[in-house]
Amino acid sequence: MPDLGSLAGLRVQARLLWSTDEDHAAWLPEGVIEVGPDGRIVAVRDSGPADVRLGPAVLTPGFVDGHLHYPQTRIVGAASGPLLDWLRHSTFPEEARFADAGHARAIADAFCAALAAAGTTLAFVYGSVHPTAADILLQTLADRGLRAIAGPVLMDMGAPDALFLPPDRALPALASLADRWQGHDDGRLQVAAIPRFALSCTADLMRGAAELAAPRGLWCSTHLSENTDEVRVAAELHGGPDYLGIYEALGLVHDRSVYAHCIHMSDEEWDRFAAAGAVVAHCPDSNDFLGSGGMPLDPVRARGIPVVLGTDIAAGRSFRVPRIASSAHDNALRQGVRVPPETWLWHATRGGARALGQPDLGALEPGFQADLVLHDLPAWVDSADDALAWLLFHHDAPPPRGTWIRGRRVWDRDAHWRAGGVFPWDAPGPA
Ligand code: GUN
Ligand code: ZN
Repeated sequence: MPDLGSLAGLRVQARLLWSTDEDHAAWLPEGVIEVGPDGRIVAVRDSGPADVRLGPAVLTPGFVDGHLHYPQTRIVGAASGPLLDWLRHSTFPEEARFADAGHARAIADAFCAALAAAGTTLAFVYGSVHPTAADILLQTLADRGLRAIAGPVLMDMGAPDALFLPPDRALPALASLADRWQGHDDGRLQVAAIPRFALSCTADLMRGAAELAAPRGLWCSTHLSENTDEVRVAAELHGGPDYLGIYEALGLVHDRSVYAHCIHMSDEEWDRFAAAGAVVAHCPDSNDFLGSGGMPLDPVRARGIPVVLGTDIAAGRSFRVPRIASSAHDNALRQGVRVPPETWLWHATRGGARALGQPDLGALEPGFQADLVLHDLPAWVDSADDALAWLLFHHDAPPPRGTWIRGRRVWDRDAHWRAGGVFPWDAPGPA
């Protein structure tokens, strides 16, 4: 059996499953995928000769996680919600520890291992407020061959003093991170401007972030209308016609902006959001765990607003994007909205990647990047429907066997287990 550390030049047989459009998936039970030397897919056949046979395992595109927090890796499961209590009791104290580069390095390692082990091949990652911790994260992502859009969060009010960085320090630090990392390795890494949310940023900081991002083409991201107390406090602090209006007035709402949660929005806000071309990061597991409410699907679907799924680690409880698709399904049914499983696969892969400006990710088709995940799949599963049921909704399905980015392996589950690794939380680090 050839070494699968690099798939370049190999024809790999497996069962293949991927999204063809928002409502459909392709299923090739005897498929063969061929990867070129540049890490892109050069051919996909429904059968034929192969250099390695992995069936009955199934290959899918890698998953896209549109929203998660690296400095919250250690607090997954902290049940201190709702949102504002959870931030105060669990989140801010842990994020303050990222002033220590040693802690940041250890957690960056565990975080990146968890991403790869979850089969995530594109992630939009929030850091802590500390520029050095963000630099450590970007270096770790670079070293491990992962693909991400990442940056420090910007905060200059509404939290413990240790988490403030005023605009005259935060913005130059963000600029130098962008100088160092934006577009690194042919676009594998990008840097984002991330004012945390209206409760922890002055208008000056948010405006400065938007002004820094625009000429550099950086993505912007923040939280929006997650919790009713948050919506009320945002209005008390910043005024404005509504919550979205606060961000609009500061130049943050446009087609390179990603808004997490978007639960308590008026129709008028949704109209403006859609007109701006902004993207929703839908985080249904987090919304459940913090009791935030359900992101309403009808206004989003009626307006064709792009959606990417977000684990929202650590308010969300799993790094595995398929678990989030499962929560998204539950959220839809609670609202009486029927969304086919194919559509959740779309948002979790190709649609999510497209929403984040990466149209050559998320499909098993020639020209696409060979960002792949190998899953165990029982031999009796013999249709796209059953494969989707297993991969998206079967919570006891084992974690991915392997993950590749540009045809290069970034996760090998069985080698990890053979070496005594505990999935995936065995990165060395402080207690
Ligand atoms: N709003 C502001 N910060 C956060 C965060 O870290 N997580 C979530 N879920 N919401 C936020
Ligand atoms: Zn978040």
